[in-house]
Amino acid sequence: MSANLTVLATGGTIAGIAGSAIGHEYNAGEIGIDAYLETVGGLGLSATLSGRQIANIDSADMGPQVWNALHPAICEALTDEGCHGVIVTHGTDTLEETAFLLDLTLPAHKPVVVVGAMRPADAVGYDGLRNFANAVRVASDRSAAGRGVLVVMGDRVFAARDVRKVRTRGSEAFRGFPRESVGLVTPASLDWFGAPWRASMEAAFGWRDDLPPVPVVYLHAGISAEDVARQIGREACGVVIAGVGEGNMPEAVRRVLREVAARGVAVVRASRADEGLVDREVDDTANGFIAARALNPQKARILLQVVLANEKRAPEDIQRAFDGR
Ligand code: SIN
Repeated sequence: MSANLTVLATGGTIAGIAGSAIGHEYNAGEIGIDAYLETVGGLGLSATLSGRQIANIDSADMGPQVWNALHPAICEALTDEGCHGVIVTHGTDTLEETAFLLDLTLPAHKPVVVVGAMRPADAVGYDGLRNFANAVRVASDRSAAGRGVLVVMGDRVFAARDVRKVRTRGSEAFRGFPRESVGLVTPASLDWFGAPWRASMEAAFGWRDDLPPVPVVYLHAGISAEDVARQIGREACGVVIAGVGEGNMPEAVRRVLREVAARGVAVVRASRADEGLVDREVDDTANGFIAARALNPQKARILLQVVLANEKRAPEDIQRAFDGR
């Protein structure tokens, strides 16, 4: 049976135009969803696609305004009995943040797949058509349910919690950590590495359209405690520290963060290193700090916003969310 899929378009390079097959500069978010579906209609995909334009932006501009339109649109599609799965087209620059936000706040009983492209639609070697055809294959697969939101890029399927953009160019721009990928896909085949992992099909967290302010503070050699305090300000409900090494920091910065945590602001220690776990250290309980575990700073920020918006404020409750429990 051919699947009925809803395609929600937000823009990005997958809908970008360069005006030249070999040029480097281009505008993201140029092609509308109707024109896009007409193009992919020629691929012979075994799915019926219906499209809706949510936005048509460069994903550098992605944020609460578009998320607050996208989330209800996905929920609407998921409650439609005739819809078997959802595909979200998205710019690659902030794709990991949107995918993770959706993963935390959507049910998992039908596939939701986020897909992008690294080259604009008129470039030689446009990867968007293949990625889209792969996304159709994944979103049509019943056993994609129970795996949360999935990201399809470069013939691989990633879990939203793991995926990250690691390169600015090329078809190998995405990687997963700590799980490298959860499946391999081509337009004609799909191989999963293991069974669905979600214990519940319910959304892990409630959707809130007013995510609280949470800055990310990037540490570097020579950073002062005053600089860190200035960047956190007085409005933040939480802060993510992109620390050195395993979420480490200068002693003077630690003192400032201890004071910030004592005011009731959630302090999460992540790492500015590309890949690596940040586990709890002996002083974290006394300091009131939370360890980001395998999440990079930008994804730790999303989780912290969602957790705080869901009224979880005690460090031990927040830590459980970062531990994935
Ligand atoms: C964007 O993120 O919208 C531009 C870059 C891309 O999609 O690869």
